[in-house]
Amino acid sequence: MKPYDTFDCAVLQNRELAPGFFDLTVSCLQAAQTARAGQFAQLMVPGKTLRRPISICEIDRNQGTLRFVFGVRGGGTLQLSRLKAGDQVNLLAPLGNGFNLGDTSRRVLLAGGGIGVPPLLEAAKPFGKRAVLTAGFRSRDAVILKEDFEKLGCGVRIATDDGSFGHHGLVTDLVEDIPFDVVFACGPKPMLRAVAALAHRRGVPCFVSMEERMACGIGACLGCAIQLQGENGPYYGHVCKDGPVFPAETIVWEE
Ligand SMILES: Cc1cc2nc3c(=O)[nH]c(=O)nc-3n(C[C@H](O)[C@H](O)[C@H](O)COP(=O)(O)OP(=O)(O)OC[C@H]3O[C@@H](n4cnc5c(N)ncnc54)[C@H](O)[C@@H]3O)c2cc1C
Ligand code: FES
Repeated sequence: MKPYDTFDCAVLQNRELAPGFFDLTVSCLQAAQTARAGQFAQLMVPGKTLRRPISICEIDRNQGTLRFVFGVRGGGTLQLSRLKAGDQVNLLAPLGNGFNLGDTSRRVLLAGGGIGVPPLLEAAKPFGKRAVLTAGFRSRDAVILKEDFEKLGCGVRIATDDGSFGHHGLVTDLVEDIPFDVVFACGPKPMLRAVAALAHRRGVPCFVSMEERMACGIGACLGCAIQLQGENGPYYGHVCKDGPVFPAETIVWEE
C-alpha cells in the first residue's frame, strides 16, 4: 500500500464565508506540490478518532497553500470552524484520484450542489471562459464561491431550493441551452444522477465526485464501499481510493 503522508500545517486564514460555511487556508508546501483538482484531505479534529474528509477547493503551488471550504454539519466541522490563523491542523493529503481534466480546450459543464461546489473551483481554472458552473444551494444565505468562479471568467448560473436567489428549482433546469463537451459534477446523489442522465442523453462524458461517509480515507477499512458497474458485472470499490471521482456510467445508482 502507498505510504500516506500527514502534515502539521499552519492555519493562515479561517473566515466565515456565509452563515455556517468556512473558508480555511493552510500552509502545506509538500501536499500543495502534488495535489490535483478533485482530491481531498483528511483533517484531524482534536478529540475525534476519525479524521474528517474535506475536498481541496484551491491549490497554490507557489505559496504552498491549500484552501478548503466547508459547512458545519456536526461536532467535527464545528471544531474546524473554530481554527484561527496561527493554529496548527494535521492533514492526511492529498487523497483520492481527483478529476482527470484532459483536453482543457473543451467546453466544460461544472455541476455542483451545496458543499459539492468547492472542489469544482480548482477544476475550473484551466478552462476559464470555457467553463460554465451551474450550482444549486438551499437558499440565498448558502450561496458560496460565486464570485470566485466569475473571477476565473466562468459562466455562472445559480439555482436555489426556495427561489431566494437565481433560478427557483434544480441545477439541471439551468443546463438546457448550454453547449458542453464534458461534465464534472459534485453534490448530492439525486443531483449527480440527474446530471449523469442529461450528459448521457447528449452523448457527453460525465465524471461525478461521490461524497460517501468515510473512516480511514486510504482504502483500509471498507467504510466507503460503493457498488460499481464493471465489464464483468457489479463489484464493490472504495470511494476514498478508487474515487472520489468516477465515470458516471460506472456508478450503480440506488433505486
Ligand atoms: C471525499 C469527501 C469530500 C468532502 N468535501 C467536503 C467539502 O469540501 N466541504 C464540506 O463542507 N464537506 C465535505 N465533505 C463532507 C464532510 O466530510 C462532512 O460534512 C463531515 O465529515 C461531517 O463531520 P462532522 O463531525 O461535522 O459531522 P458528523 O457529526 O460526523 O455528522 C453530521 C451530519 O453530517 C452527515 N455526514 C457526515 N459525513 C458525511 C458525508 N461524507 N456526506 C454527507 N453527509 C455526511 C452525517 O450523516 C450527519 O447527519 C466531504 C466528504 C467526503 C467523503
Ligand atoms: S474510508 Fe476506509 S476504505 Fe475508504
